[in-house]
Amino acid sequence: MSEKPERNLGLDLARATEAAALAAARWVGRGQKNEGDGAAVNALRLLLDTVRMDGIVVIGEGEKDEAPMLYNGERTGNGSGPMVDVAVDPVEGTNLLAKGLPNSIAVVAVAPRGTMFNPGPAFYMDKLVVGPEAAGQVDLEAPVAETLAIVAKAKGLDVDEVTVVILDRPRNQARIRAVREAGARIRLISDGDVAPSLMAALPGTGIDIVMGIGGTPEGVITACAMHGLGGEIQGCLAPQSDGERERIEAAGIAIGRKLTLSDLAAGNDHFFAATGITQGDFLRGVRYTATGAITHSLVTRSRSGTWRTIEAHHRWDKLMTYSEVAYR
Ligand code: FBP
Repeated sequence: MSEKPERNLGLDLARATEAAALAAARWVGRGQKNEGDGAAVNALRLLLDTVRMDGIVVIGEGEKDEAPMLYNGERTGNGSGPMVDVAVDPVEGTNLLAKGLPNSIAVVAVAPRGTMFNPGPAFYMDKLVVGPEAAGQVDLEAPVAETLAIVAKAKGLDVDEVTVVILDRPRNQARIRAVREAGARIRLISDGDVAPSLMAALPGTGIDIVMGIGGTPEGVITACAMHGLGGEIQGCLAPQSDGERERIEAAGIAIGRKLTLSDLAAGNDHFFAATGITQGDFLRGVRYTATGAITHSLVTRSRSGTWRTIEAHHRWDKLMTYSEVAYR
């Protein structure tokens, strides 16, 4: 206990997700998801480069030839400090942003170098996310009714008081039926399964579980957050086309294997930051005032098990050079 505590990188990462959210917020409801994403990417990258870390983007905006910035393999951070893997999702829920719907967030996760699962060409993953109460007790391969009963018991609820979030996709219909048959409540979402995953692990949000097939990168990002929040995610790659399956096999990644929390993000030294863009159930969206804007962020650090929310008030009259680009 006499050692000097190390820096909480998450707090610096929150400045970066704040900038991304402020930049993306200009595009809320404008129907142009790529433009909104582009603005957030620019802002996030500028701020990430100020963070004291020697980072490699493991989960980014795509391969180098298709993404000019924050591409997979790009170096990020100021080059000093810890060697880390970085996962970015400048706008998680680009459709939500474009339509002005709730729960689009700007997200960054950081873990020691070599510890993050690299999804490569694996786009889709079956997921099960639960909060601290049920962590360590659930199994992705168990029948849905069993999982619901375990979570209900762990949280002191009846099964019909449990709420499960599932992406509303044809591929998830069997899961939706199974949850309904078991008697739990469902919230179907159109996009964005990271925000509800956070809620499943946070107290009093009304969300208890996230289930179903969603994005693999989002699953890895969620894993970093679960380390900090004490929740759990399990996954299993679930390719949705022959092409995806072939590319995963060619990359030498096992498909049928259950991926545990530590398969997705190994160790216990993860940082995660998210800032609300559109109004959300947990994180509030960017709100403008006469003199600036207000952001709301979540920061987690797994080693200390601390999570914080930060409301930041940004003043346009105090903009610094980077902010001019990022916010306006
Ligand atoms: P964006 O990449 O447009 O932000 O979409 C994110 C997302 O909705 C994730 O939250 C989810 O895991 C995944 O896409 C689902 O993929 P699909 O829309 O192809 O079903």
